[in-house]
Amino acid sequence: MEEFSGKTIILGVTGGIAAYKVVELASRWTQAGARVRTLMTPAATKFVTPLTFAAVTRQPALSEIWRTDLDSGKPEHIETGFDADAFVVAPATADFIARAAAGFGNDIVTVSWLAYDGPTIIAPAMNDKMWAHPSVARNLSVLREWGVTVVEPGSGHLACGSVGPGRLAELDDIETAVARHLG
Ligand SMILES: Cc1cc2nc3c(=O)[nH]c(=O)nc-3n(C[C@H](O)[C@H](O)[C@H](O)COP(=O)(O)O)c2cc1C
Repeated sequence: MEEFSGKTIILGVTGGIAAYKVVELASRWTQAGARVRTLMTPAATKFVTPLTFAAVTRQPALSEIWRTDLDSGKPEHIETGFDADAFVVAPATADFIARAAAGFGNDIVTVSWLAYDGPTIIAPAMNDKMWAHPSVARNLSVLREWGVTVVEPGSGHLACGSVGPGRLAELDDIETAVARHLG
């Protein structure tokens, strides 16, 4: 965990049920001395509130593009990535993966990622049939080609009641993948 000390991590949270697990990652990394800046899609805020992430990271958690209190004079999505050591998206929904692969920037997570040129690690999580869909595989292969690290989901009981691949990877595995880039 010493890799996290003094580092700035952008944590993009998208709208999957596993969003609640990622609060634990935000907390661990903050305790390890990282500055964790949380960005959430509107769908993510249906599962966990920005206040939860703001409280555990002691940093504002942003969920919209249209802010008017621009401290640095730059829009937040441009400013956020400047000094960040890694951009992590967990959980990464099928929808987010498609938007990122297509170059969309219609929410604070995708638009900030487009404006970021450092290491990116994503941890997909979804229903097993969604995970098996060829569009998800195609979009992930585009992201991998661009150098994005994909932490593969695990297999097991899914929130939808199915059993199969699609569970968010173990938090330790996500952490190891991020630490590798920070180190
Ligand atoms: C209860 C519930 C759970 C969901 N879980 C997931 C999930 O684990 N993975 C996923 O890709 N989509 C999931 N979805 C669908 C996404 O929330 C939906 O595709 C949304 O548009 C994602 O938006 P975002 O990518 O901007 O966060 C879920 C929806 C609901 C209602």
